[in-house]
Amino acid sequence: MPDPRKIIIDTDPGQDDAVAILVALASPELDVLGITAVAGNVPLELTQLNARKICELAGRPDISVFCGASEPLNRKLVTAEHVHGRTGLDGPTLPQPEMQAQSQHAVDFIVETVMASDSGEITICALGPLTNVAMALQKEPQIAKNLAEIVLMGGGFFEGGNVTPAAEFNIYVDPEAAAIVFNSGIKLTVMPLDVTHKALASRTRVEAFRSLGNRAGEVTAELLDFFERFDETKYGTDGGPLHDPNVIVWLLEPNIYSGRRINVEIETSSELTLGMTVADWWRVSDRSENCFFVRNLDDQRFFEILTERIKRL
Ligand code: RIB
Ligand code: CA
Repeated sequence: MPDPRKIIIDTDPGQDDAVAILVALASPELDVLGITAVAGNVPLELTQLNARKICELAGRPDISVFCGASEPLNRKLVTAEHVHGRTGLDGPTLPQPEMQAQSQHAVDFIVETVMASDSGEITICALGPLTNVAMALQKEPQIAKNLAEIVLMGGGFFEGGNVTPAAEFNIYVDPEAAAIVFNSGIKLTVMPLDVTHKALASRTRVEAFRSLGNRAGEVTAELLDFFERFDETKYGTDGGPLHDPNVIVWLLEPNIYSGRRINVEIETSSELTLGMTVADWWRVSDRSENCFFVRNLDDQRFFEILTERIKRL
């Protein structure tokens, strides 16, 4: 097996973030250098706590968890307790973690680690608002050259938005940060609602986690029981979309996905469409391609991978 791929997970757990982290920690193909928490689904003090809870659930109290931005770059924080619950990880009962968060700020960890690495060695997996990543780019623009890639869950075009008719939550919370990332020139792979809405955690798929016979499988089922209820009602489907784990599965089996390199710009001024990812899928503009925008996946294989990995914990 080739050397494990070095990744930093930037996240706002969140039930779907939690599943993504579990899969990453169960995958020897990946070397998780650190987890950087950002405010998003719930405030920072909860996202960093939740990240530590999930590391301990995975039997990985050795993982370094860092606290990052508690507010977007220049807007008030918008959270999503109505989706994720007051704690951000409603559903299962998880013990208070013993592992502590690191004292170093998440942004300094990202800058220091990326600048100390060989060029093209580290991938950032961004599962929440892009505030930490943007702050790292502002602090040390050179990381844009050193990073291998950013794979992020965010945006939507054909599917519209989930927090406004035009915008997806991660981009909407900090559109200025997203604009910095999308204009950074870094190799970018985007998992928008257009693909995550095709990854539905149906009852059968949730039960497959529950019947794994391990605590991680049981907790995953309880996380999804809670998290998916909001979207099942909203979309009237058997199961709701499972967003963030697509970022990790892309690194494990990219060939289950399809998309195309296009230009995506971020709306940062219009109140009506703030945070919209304006995706030039049909290449009608002369704006340069800045990301690989994923639109489809083999959803059966996606859930097989999730279940097989979580079984290992
Ligand atoms: O819109 C879905 C995204 O917003 C996911 O990352 C979810 O965790 C929330 O952060
Ligand atoms: Ca998230």
